[in-house]
Amino acid sequence: MRTALLLVACLNAPAAVLAYGDRKLVQPNLAILATAASSTTSNSSSCSSALLYEPVAPSEDPWYTAPYEFENEKPGTILRVRPAPGNLTLLAGNASAAYNILYRTTNSLYKPTWAVTTLFIPKKASSASNSSTTNGALLSYQIAYDSNYINASPSYALYSSLDQDISTALGKGYYVSVPDYEGPLASFTAGVLSGHATLDSLRAILSTAGKPRFGLPANNSIALWGYSGGALASEWAAELQVQYAPELNISGIAVGGLTPNVTSVLFSINGGVGAGIAPPAILGITNQFPDVYEYVLSLLKSEGTNNKTGFLAAQNYTLNQDIGAFLGKNISDYFEGGLSAVLSPLAQKVIHSDGIMGYHGIPQVPIYAYKAIKDELSPVNDTDTLVARYCAVGANILYERSSIGGHTSGAINGRASATAFVDAIFGGTYAATYNTTGCTIREVAWNESSLSF
Ligand SMILES: *[C@@H]1O[C@H](CO)[C@@H](O)[C@H](O)[C@H]1NC(C)=O
Ligand SMILES: *[C@@H]1O[C@H](CO)[C@@H](O)[C@H](O)[C@H]1NC(C)=O
Ligand SMILES: *[C@@H]1O[C@H](CO)[C@@H](O)[C@H](O)[C@H]1NC(C)=O
Ligand SMILES: *[C@@H]1O[C@H](CO)[C@@H](O)[C@H](O)[C@H]1NC(C)=O
Ligand SMILES: *[C@@H]1O[C@H](CO)[C@@H](O)[C@H](O)[C@H]1NC(C)=O
Ligand SMILES: *[C@@H]1O[C@H](CO)[C@@H](O)[C@H](O)[C@H]1NC(C)=O
Ligand SMILES: *[C@@H]1O[C@H](CO)[C@@H](O)[C@H](O)[C@H]1NC(C)=O
Ligand SMILES: *[C@@H]1O[C@H](CO)[C@@H](O)[C@H](O)[C@H]1NC(C)=O
Ligand SMILES: *[C@@H]1O[C@H](CO)[C@@H](O)[C@H](O)[C@H]1NC(C)=O
Ligand SMILES: *[C@@H]1O[C@H](CO)[C@@H](O)[C@H](O)[C@H]1NC(C)=O
Ligand SMILES: *[C@@H]1O[C@H](CO)[C@@H](O)[C@H](O)[C@H]1NC(C)=O
Ligand SMILES: *[C@@H]1O[C@H](CO)[C@@H](O)[C@H](O)[C@H]1NC(C)=O
Repeated sequence: MRTALLLVACLNAPAAVLAYGDRKLVQPNLAILATAASSTTSNSSSCSSALLYEPVAPSEDPWYTAPYEFENEKPGTILRVRPAPGNLTLLAGNASAAYNILYRTTNSLYKPTWAVTTLFIPKKASSASNSSTTNGALLSYQIAYDSNYINASPSYALYSSLDQDISTALGKGYYVSVPDYEGPLASFTAGVLSGHATLDSLRAILSTAGKPRFGLPANNSIALWGYSGGALASEWAAELQVQYAPELNISGIAVGGLTPNVTSVLFSINGGVGAGIAPPAILGITNQFPDVYEYVLSLLKSEGTNNKTGFLAAQNYTLNQDIGAFLGKNISDYFEGGLSAVLSPLAQKVIHSDGIMGYHGIPQVPIYAYKAIKDELSPVNDTDTLVARYCAVGANILYERSSIGGHTSGAINGRASATAFVDAIFGGTYAATYNTTGCTIREVAWNESSLSF
């Protein structure tokens, strides 16, 4: 028996709903549902000392499958939980435990699907805000994994490169959730799915608030943060929240290097160093819409240097592999009829519903947006236009445009100010430090990164 088949629940959870393959089991107060033959020791009185087993790639791991009749559960319902395989707390400094949570969410066709988040528990939880309450601080940290490869999902990819921001946030006592917001089809750039999956990851975690399962306090302050692809998920969460998850009390959202318009990103990167972002984006946004996906695949050339085989290789590439494989490529060359055929009226429907920010709702929570004016991946005027659109209808946004650097350095250059925003949200100092009404747009000149692009 493969050790990956281990299913573990925590004692004291009022009802642990666990599922494997076709079977769904509802077990109250269950400590260990099934154990691998090799694992004989366990500590049934605590989650944190649950059995360890090595991570298995999602494509090979049956844990990453839709539980039986999951469609009937409400969005945000926890469908499976396990302590994160291996010793993720060893990799993430400042964590006392880490869990994988598989939950129900809603895809871009507004049909049931599921996603996974990884929840890190801080060694020492902070009390968010300096009110008399003991609020927990929950940071939803969206990583820019920018890939159509399911094994690039953070819940697995974190084992090879753990983002320092996670450890730093944990060190401040924040609970940190890292959702695989592209979902089970690795639908990179599918805005609606990414937003829903981010919001439902919060619902899933908050459903345990005040219960012993993860030790989350009863009341929690919530902030979101993401850069580039991570900002895409965060922004879509912001604009969809008003309708999809109005009950969530999100206190602030930090978004850096926004990409409000997928088409303009495509034209910006085509033929350049970032061309490799296009194949996973084209595959990712369309795979939510099977008819459009089939249409786009049908346009791929079967012969020549830039053919279907080469393009579809992106299905198994991480972001770095995509960048290497498609460096300088004109993506148009892969398609019969070029990009204009790809951007057909059929595809426009997808782009309009899932690829253009700003049309699904108006964020009702404070936003901190930061952007390099010379961002070469997504022109700054797209973000200017999006911010102006929201500001015209009462959003509360601080938008900082940096005169130095580009898209890559923008992540590093803006880190300190994004961190300060998140800390102010959790520290209860937002109102004292930021303008709580309307929009403030200003130019800055951050120079933290040695990169010029
Ligand atoms: C089991 O976990 C509890 C709570 O963390 C701890 O107090 C206890 O010492 C552990 N027991 C063993 C045998 O590790
Ligand atoms: C996991 O790593 C942490 C941090 O180094 C360590 O304290 C803990 O004992 C490890 N857990 C196991 C079960 O090896
Ligand atoms: C733990 O958190 C602190 C404070 O955020 C941070 O400075 C430190 O680098 C973190 N430790 C690790 C091992 O990442
Ligand atoms: C819960 O936290 C929010 C801030 O996130 C705060 O406004 C509210 O007063 C808190 N409620 C309780 C009962 O502590
Ligand atoms: C949001 O805050 C309100 C008011 O404090 C509270 O009644 C409600 O339960 C909170 N929602 C969640 C999901 O915690
Ligand atoms: C998105 O960008 C494309 C390419 O620049 C442009 O043609 C289109 O009008 C833009 N869409 C919106 C809604 O701004
Ligand atoms: C890509 O090829 C198309 C068709 O030949 C051409 O119109 C376009 O200018 C090229 N784009 C780049 C960035 O080279
Ligand atoms: C398709 O492209 C690949 C490189 O991605 C190349 O190895 C292969 O020979 C090409 N096939 C044809 C039929 O040209
Ligand atoms: C991706 O990898 C899987 C498993 O290794 C393989 O079955 C599949 O054919 C690969 N897809 C492409 C497009 O290379
Ligand atoms: C941004 O600027 C470009 C180039 O001047 C222009 O084509 C595009 O329409 C502008 N986009 C917006 C959203 O204003
Ligand atoms: C607590 O709140 C007060 C008043 O809003 C503020 O001046 C102070 O900096 C806050 N302290 C922390 C640790 O956030
Ligand atoms: C906050 O922003 C609004 C809208 O831009 C402006 O009218 C107001 O003066 C600002 N307040 C402060 C304290 O800066």
